[in-house]
This record gives sequence, structure tokens and C-alpha cells, in this order.
Amino acid sequence: MSYENIIIRNENNVAVINLNRPKSLNALNSEMVAELDKAFGEIAADPEVRAVVITGEKNFAAGADITNMVELSPEEARAFAFTATFNKIADFPKPVIAAIEGFALGGGMELALCCDIRIAASGAKMGFPEINLGIFPGAGGTQRLPRLIGVSKAKRLIFTGAMVKGGPALEMGLVDTLAENPLEEAVKLAEELAGKAPIALKLAKECINSAGDVDLQTGGKIEAINWSGLFATADQREGMRAFIEKRKPVFTGK
Ligand code: HXC
Repeated sequence: MSYENIIIRNENNVAVINLNRPKSLNALNSEMVAELDKAFGEIAADPEVRAVVITGEKNFAAGADITNMVELSPEEARAFAFTATFNKIADFPKPVIAAIEGFALGGGMELALCCDIRIAASGAKMGFPEINLGIFPGAGGTQRLPRLIGVSKAKRLIFTGAMVKGGPALEMGLVDTLAENPLEEAVKLAEELAGKAPIALKLAKECINSAGDVDLQTGGKIEAINWSGLFATADQREGMRAFIEKRKPVFTGK
């Protein structure tokens, strides 16, 4: 399918999604989020794609499109808030990496929080300026940010609306790595992950994602079920046999 607000390129088993509304610094409107939703649906069903990178040329995304939100009623705001799509990305069964240059603000940074790994340029400017608009992050940010960086740091960012650059963002755990060319670095990592066993990646992600939400005992049970389930996969046999036969494994996702 063709898209107007995003550009997708598939190469070496990696899909790179470019947010593409440069005139508004890639502000996220409903159309763009609907396209993201469709794109992730298509990528989920495509066994050739084993990892995803989300990025934006010059800027990641300067937030939800404010011009779309000014006159919303509470009901309309709830429908606008991107939550279903962002949850779909956070729970996506393949690794998703954010490559961040320029501004990643508000809903844009919340999108980055849904990714498994964030790689940013040192000059990237990240934050949650919603408080200056009389609102606060509404696409999962109040939940994902404290889980990622801790409660008081999250409160400080959300309460002040302050922007942080790459260095401080790395220090507080908002991003995982800094890179001169975040997209290049993200694609490199995605290509590496595309060579791993897809079902093991998917189930490891499910376990790790549940770690922030359930108690240790329940988490341990989820891990035990997912881990032992891998012994029904061809990739587990292949990975272990390849080790014993001193060769590189070829994982098929089965
Ligand atoms: C709509 C936006 C936008 C946004 C930038 N633009 N951010 N339009 N929504 N979020 C537009 C500007 O209006 C302008 O359009 C063009 O992009 C370039 O922006 P400038 O402001 O001229 O650039 P600059 O001076 O470099 O300032 C960059 C900026 C500033 C600091 C990022 O644009 C800014 O503060 N933007 C808003 C950031 C923000 O508050 N984000 C959170 C949104 S609320 P024109 O036509 O004038 O050239 C949110 C809630 C999510 O995300 C909740 C869940 C849905």
C-alpha cells in the first residue's frame, strides 16, 4: 500500500519507516498515525521483515499536531490520542528501534518510548512540552516514562516541559546510545537483530515488556512458559546444533 505521511523502505530484512511531514517537523496527525498502524500491520504479516527502524529526516517528530487538537472535546481528545496504535508498536512482535535526530517532543517522544531501543544524535532535543499547552503526555508517556527513567526524573521532565539534549538524555536513561548518524547505527543494529531467531526475540520481548507490569512470581511464570515453548521451535534445534557443529546458525523463524 502507498502512504502519504510516512515512507517505508525494506532492505536486508529491515523495514525503515520515515515519518514524513517535514514542514511541521513531522508533527503526528491522525492520518500519519493511521498509516503507522497499517504499516505495522503489514510488517507483522511479512516474514521477510525481522526488525523495524522508525526515524524522521532532520527531525523525529515535534509532537502531536497541535492544530488538530485546539478545539477537541474530551471525547474527541480520547479518540485522537494514538493509544491503540502506540500500544501496538510497543507490543510489536519484532524489534523496533528509534533513530532520533532533531526534535522528539511530546507525542513524538512517546512514540520513541514505544520502541525497544532509542539511538539519538547528541544534538537531538527531546522532552515533553505538553504542560506548556495546558495538557500532559496522553499517548502512554505518563506510564512508560517513569518505568524507563524512574518516577522523579519523569515528573521533572513532564512537570517542567524541559527539553534535554543527547548527553543528559543518555545519562538519565531516556535514550540508550548516542551516535553521529543515528539512522545508520539503528539500521546496523536492526540488521544484526534480523539475523537472530525471530520467535526467541518475540518471546523475550514479551517477557521483558511484562517485567514492568507484573510481580516477580508472575513474571517468572511468563518467562518459564515462553522459554520452554522455544523447545518446540526449529530455531532452537538449529541454534544448538549449529553450536555443536561449530557453524553459524541459520534461523528461519519456525
Ligand atoms: C503542529 C507544529 C508542531 C506541532 C512544530 N510545528 N511543531 N505544528 N504541531 N506539534 C510547525 C510549526 O507550527 C511551524 O509551522 C513548523 O512546524 C516549524 O516550526 P517552528 O516553530 O517554526 O520551528 P522552531 O522555531 O525551530 O521551533 C521548533 C519547536 C516548536 C521548538 C519544536 O515548533 C515547538 O515548540 N513545537 C511544538 C512542540 C510541542 O509542544 N509538542 C507537543 C505537542 S502536544 P509553520 O506553518 O508556522 O511554518 C502532544 C500531545 C501528545 O504531543 C498526546 C497524545 C496524542
